[in-house]
Parts: sequence; C-alpha cells; structure tokens
Amino acid sequence: MIGQNWESAIAMSHIWSIGGGKGGSGKSFLTGNLGILLAKQGYQTLLIDVDLGAANLHTIIGIPHPEKSISDFVNKKVVTLEETVTPTPIPNLYFISGAMNNLDIANLAHEQKMKLLRNIAKLPYEYILLDLGAGTSFNTIDFFMISNSGIFVTTPEPTSIENIYRLIRSVYLRKIRQVLKTYDFRILAEKAERHNSRANISNPDVLLYIMKEVDPEKGDMLEKALSTLHFKLTLNQLRKQDNPNTGELICKIIERHLALKMSFTGNISFDDRVHNSVCKKIPFLDLYPYTQITLDLRECCNNLLSIHDVHPILQDAVD
Ligand SMILES: Nc1ncnc2c1ncn2[C@@H]1O[C@H](COP(=O)(O)OP(=O)(O)OP(=O)(O)O)[C@@H](O)[C@H]1O
Ligand SMILES: [Mg+2]
Repeated sequence: MIGQNWESAIAMSHIWSIGGGKGGSGKSFLTGNLGILLAKQGYQTLLIDVDLGAANLHTIIGIPHPEKSISDFVNKKVVTLEETVTPTPIPNLYFISGAMNNLDIANLAHEQKMKLLRNIAKLPYEYILLDLGAGTSFNTIDFFMISNSGIFVTTPEPTSIENIYRLIRSVYLRKIRQVLKTYDFRILAEKAERHNSRANISNPDVLLYIMKEVDPEKGDMLEKALSTLHFKLTLNQLRKQDNPNTGELICKIIERHLALKMSFTGNISFDDRVHNSVCKKIPFLDLYPYTQITLDLRECCNNLLSIHDVHPILQDAVD
C-alpha cells in the first residue's frame, strides 16, 4: 500500500517511463538523449536504468559503468536509493545504474519491488526518466504505474508496431484496474458484469457504458478518471522510404480501439551514425549536433514538455 508520502513525492517530480514492446526499438537511445536535452535546458534530471537484466544506458550517455547500482539498494548495501546516484559530466544530469548482478526485476520479491517503486517516486529531481526493459511483463508495467507520463517507442516495422500495441493495451488495462481499485468501483464493476457478461476489464468501453447505466454518478466519475489517461508515442528509426505519417496513424488507431488519448511526439530518423556514437561511447547529441536526428530529438523533447503531465491515480500503484 502506498502511503501519504506518495502523493507529495509524486507531486515533486515528473516521472517519464520509456518503454517499447520489442528489444532494440531505441528505448535507451531515446531515454539517454531526452535526459541530456532536459539537463541542458536546466532541469535537474535523473536517468534510471531499470532494464535490470541488461542495463546499458550508461554507455549511451557516455559514462563508465557506475560503481553503485540499484542492486546495492535492493541488497541493502546502502540505506537510501539516493546513495546510488552517480553524477555525470553533463551539468544537471544524474544517473542510477540498473546492473543487478544476476538478479532480474522478475526475481524481486513483491515487497522489494514495492520499496524500489516507492523510493524512485520519492527522489527529489525535476524529471526522472526510466529506461525500461522490452516487453509486456507484469514488472515492466509496474513502472508505468508510478509515472506521470508513459512514452512508448516503436520502429515502423509491423512486428514492432504489433508489440507496442500489446504493451499499450496492457498498461491501459492495468491503469483501469488501478482506477477501479482506487475508487472502490469493484463491486459496481462486478454488478455491471452480471448485467452484461461483456462488461469486463477486457472491454473497457462496454464496462463503462454498463456501469453508467447501473450507477450514472459513479459511471461519470470513472469516465472522468479514465479521461486523464494520456499516453505518448515516439517513432524511432524512420528511414527515407518509410511513411512519415505512420506514428500519427498508430495513435489514431489506438485512440479508436482503446478510448484513451494518445499523442504522437514525432519521428526520429534512422542514422547509421547512432552506431558510431554508441561505439565511441559519446552521446549522439554531442558527437553529431548538426544532424536531422538531433533536430528530431529536440522536437520530441519539446513536444513532451508541452504536453501537460497527467498525474497517476494515487494509492495502490501496484496490484
Ligand atoms: N534512430 C536510430 N538510428 C539508427 N540506429 C539506431 C537509432 N536508434 C537506436 N539505434 C540503434 O539500435 C540499437 C538499439 O537501440 P537501443 O539500445 O536504444 O534499443 P533498446 O530499445 O533500448 O533495446 P533493448 O530492448 O535491448 O534495451 C542500437 O544499436 C542503436 O545504436
Ligand atoms: Mg535498452
């Protein structure tokens, strides 16, 4: 159970979770570069590599493997998560490594995971960016539950798009469960399902419709709570031959199917020089400041900043 401090802690920082359904879509590349751009704009920014099994975000921002990591906090080698923060050579940019020494987030006991999530939300930074592992695992989705902003990264390939849809749907359904739990709507939801067997969590639109019929007042409250759900989509690795409207189209399709607000933050071009920057361990923005990708990343960052954060539904962030 997340207590009172949770609300004040959440209000302090903007927590952005950056996820993708497929490995290699560019989550870490986007997270690292967005972090650098936010820091360069003067925001106190913390990057956390929560891809615990395969932490490599430090390389994207051009710093050596930090000595301390999340595992020191989980294994109680340090008392506070703050002690695992490493400063970076970029002013205003801080980093927590996710290296877990053979320990994956999936292996964390529920209590350990809750403690980690609670402590991430308490960290005193203006922006906290979480670089997530690929896929729709229950644990990956947990991180979206503590964030104000869910940023989903896909490439234009159909396989990546299919997986991003699956991930967005899973996060959406978890958020609905959270709303039902927070407002104590479960009894009403059960009543609605008895009324119409299709009115369940897998069909949120039918559920909402029937709940409004059964109890108009609570139905309206639920509709209002769900209308705060606002996700973002970034399309990475767009090649010249790809349709530049793909990202907008995906957002429209998701909005139609899932009845949630989905904003497109922009295309990020494909550029072979990303490979060079990773191999040289120099942030792309520093190595190639005058390129289309740098412009794309800036635009993406500004779009994200201009979309007003929707605070998460508080209370039990994790089922
Ligand atoms: N816009 C781009 N243009 C060209 N190459 C890119 C671009 N974005 C990322 N890459 C390359 O794609 C690969 C995967 O990028 P990255 O590590 O950011 O993906 P990821 O989604 O974090 O992967 P994982 O799921 O393994 O953590 C890297 O080799 C990177 O150099
Ligand atoms: Mg990654």
